[in-house]
This record gives sequence, C-alpha cells and structure tokens, in this order.
Amino acid sequence: MARTVTVRTLANMKRAGEKIAMLTAYDYPTAKLLSEAGVHVLLVGDSLGMVVQGQPTTVPVTLDHMVYHASLVSRGAEGAMVVADLPFLTYQVSAEEALRSAGRLMQEGGAHGVKLEGGREMAKTVRRLVDAGIPVMGHIGLTPQSVHTFGGFTVQGKTADRALEMMEDALALEEAGAFSIVLEAVPAEVAAEITHRLSIPTIGIGAGPDCDGQVLVFHDFIGYTSGYIPKHNKRYADLASVIRDAARQYIEEVAQGVFPGEEQTVHLQDGELRLFQSMVARHGGGPRE
Ligand code: KIV
Repeated sequence: MARTVTVRTLANMKRAGEKIAMLTAYDYPTAKLLSEAGVHVLLVGDSLGMVVQGQPTTVPVTLDHMVYHASLVSRGAEGAMVVADLPFLTYQVSAEEALRSAGRLMQEGGAHGVKLEGGREMAKTVRRLVDAGIPVMGHIGLTPQSVHTFGGFTVQGKTADRALEMMEDALALEEAGAFSIVLEAVPAEVAAEITHRLSIPTIGIGAGPDCDGQVLVFHDFIGYTSGYIPKHNKRYADLASVIRDAARQYIEEVAQGVFPGEEQTVHLQDGELRLFQSMVARHGGGPRE
C-alpha cells in the first residue's frame, strides 16, 4: 500500500465519494497480504471467537485474546489502519474501564483505534476515549455481543420506529466523536439515510450498497470455513476446497512414498557417506529390540 491510512484518510475518502474497503484480520500473514493488496482498514474483530476459536458467539472472547491478535495484525499491517474490537464487558461497566481496555489494545496490541458496540448509551464512553486520544469506531444494528438479547443473529431496524432509533444512535455516536460507524444487518434504505446524514463514514456489513465502505469477515470472504455462511457474504475464493484438496494429495503422496521426493531431500557427501558407512560397520550390533 502506497499510503498510510488514518482517520483523516477515511474522512477525506467519504468527502471525495471514494469507497472504503475493510476486512477482518486475525494474524500477521493475513494482515500483510491484505494490506499489500491495498485494503484500507484491518479490523481485528471479536468475530475471531467464532471463526478462529470455534466458539458459538463472540461473548467468550477476552481482552487478552484481542490484545494478542491485535499485536499479530499490527505487525503485518503495512499502511492499513488497524482497528481492534473491545470485547464483551470490557467497556460497558464504566468509561474508566473502557479507557483501560482500549489503552491495552493500543499500547500492547498496536491498534490505531478501537471499535465498540452500542448507540446512545455508549456516547459518554466514546467521548471519554476520544478525549484521551483514542479513535473510536461505533457499531450499531446487529451488535453480535447482544446476540442473547436479540435471540439470534437477526436483521435490526426493520420497523420505522427502530430505524429512527438507529439513526439517532448513529447521530449520538458522531456527536460523541466517533470517527466511523459500522452498520451491521440493517435494511439498505435505513443505512443509506444514516450515511447521508452523517459526516463520518459508515461501513456496512449486510447494510446495502450505499454505505461509505464495506466490511466482511475474512474467513467468510475467502471461503475458509466449513460452517454457516451469512446471507450478506460474498465469497471471493474457496480456500476450504484448496485446503481439503491439498491435504488429500499430501496424504496420498505420503502413503505412496512420493513425498518427500529428491527435491526435498538432502544427502551426505560421498566422502562423508563412506566414512559413516565404515563407522556404522565398526559400531556393530543390529536394530534395537
Ligand atoms: O467482529 C467483527 O468481525 C465485526 C464485523 C462483523 C464488523 O464486528
């Protein structure tokens, strides 16, 4: 990536009508490849609980997990902005606790900003973090940490009342100083109106084409999963098939003695080989019982 992406880059992109491409990343090689390709923002999402750890929801993800993965991603992110999720219950109890949690993601994890879930009720916390110099990305609509309150991963804002509440949440987050907001599983018309009203960029996932940017979960995007794929996802590759095919070929080649071949094998030099053989002969004895 030629340029370093910052909150100012993203604000300028919205102003210029340039779309923002964000993807989740959880490790060094992925961060390196995605940033080399030019992805603007790498989100160390707490979705890692589901796609990396195999948990049913994001609720079990801890701050230590997030700090660890953020540190891997920030080491590989060349020019891309790294945003890390504040996991469940590390920011809801008090603004002071949120500040300490966000501080760890930035100091130990190397993140350039943090993301938290929630609307108006989080405005005070967002303000506290922003005043301390921490860029905050909001996240409204389907907020996965509240999956047990929603009763599933379902589209939000489907009634006019809920849609209006969501718009008020977005405006409150902007007012509190958030630099961007993720809109997840929101009807396209609602996302378009929110995007139009805000001066900060919206990043959509299952929120239609009119957001200022889009985000996908890396494993869904690249087909690196054998589980459930959300409706809003577009799979850009089929890594699961590549991995399964490679593993089957490897098993076969090991069984047939085709791997390792001559190319993957090292030999003793002639002189050393003869010496070794005579030493073995003098050594005597047969194979151990
Ligand atoms: O955790 C995550 O990956 C996210 C995206 C789905 C926006 O929050």
